Amino acid sequence: MSAKIISGTETAKAIREELKKEVAELADKVIPGLVTILVGEDPASQSYVAAKNKTAHALGIHSEQVTLDAETSEDDLLALVEKYNNDDKIHGILVQLPLPKHIDEAKILNAINPDKDVDGFHPVNVGRMVLGEKCFLPCTPHGVLELLQRSGVETSGAEVVVVGRSNIVGKPVANLMLQKRAAGNATVTLCHTRTKDMDFHTKRADILIVAAGVANMIKADQVKEGVVVIDVGVNRIGMTESGKAKLAGDVDFESVKEKASAITPVPGGVGPMTITMLMKNTVQSARQFAGLA
Ligand code: GUN
Repeated sequence: MSAKIISGTETAKAIREELKKEVAELADKVIPGLVTILVGEDPASQSYVAAKNKTAHALGIHSEQVTLDAETSEDDLLALVEKYNNDDKIHGILVQLPLPKHIDEAKILNAINPDKDVDGFHPVNVGRMVLGEKCFLPCTPHGVLELLQRSGVETSGAEVVVVGRSNIVGKPVANLMLQKRAAGNATVTLCHTRTKDMDFHTKRADILIVAAGVANMIKADQVKEGVVVIDVGVNRIGMTESGKAKLAGDVDFESVKEKASAITPVPGGVGPMTITMLMKNTVQSARQFAGLA
């Protein structure tokens, strides 16, 4: 069997069309505004931030991009965040992670007004998410859920195995999928670097979500026939002939697609969904600030 390819590119395109219409309809009341803040010159972060701004622009969202040099002090970054907390044109503030080592990431994330935290990383939003309350959902986990739902994958009662326990993906996606909600109600296992027998778990999965950050880590002999695979990994494994970064997921796509019933590719899987969910959160935030939500 060769798997159905779950296209994040196509799904994201459909959601972006919906958002573009929504932004146009809102235009005489509020123009959603997003600022992205990048500290340093990490090439992957640079390309993510550029993609976020390009998408915002295409949807009619006002976007500002601030790039600071790698030596920027924590105090200066805090002052910048505060400036945007008080800027009425801006409804979403995104500080691209990771930050340089001399900056305390938690301190910066805590400084963002939770009502403008379109990344869903502020402890207030994380708490609301865990409790199942209304909040900004973190973009990658939200994108994974939307992708499953819009692809018609049944999650209720499914054995979901998540590989990777990051704050950005693993922990929130596991938490959301066990909740009583759309793309939820699953039985969730969260595996990580100290898991004793990883294969025992991955082979049981009806839905396998991999966010470990290790290129081609999951092979065909670690999954069961018919599994649905969501590959969150984006690993740079060299250059293409045209000088672009060559990407690989955390899943060995070529072998696993022969065993899975459905699988996301890299690129073109979860990546476009993450950016789209950021836009969705920004529009939602603008609505809330304008008293329209
Ligand atoms: N770095 C990797 N993914 C993300 C993300 O979703 N948001 C931010 N702010 N930084 C990231």
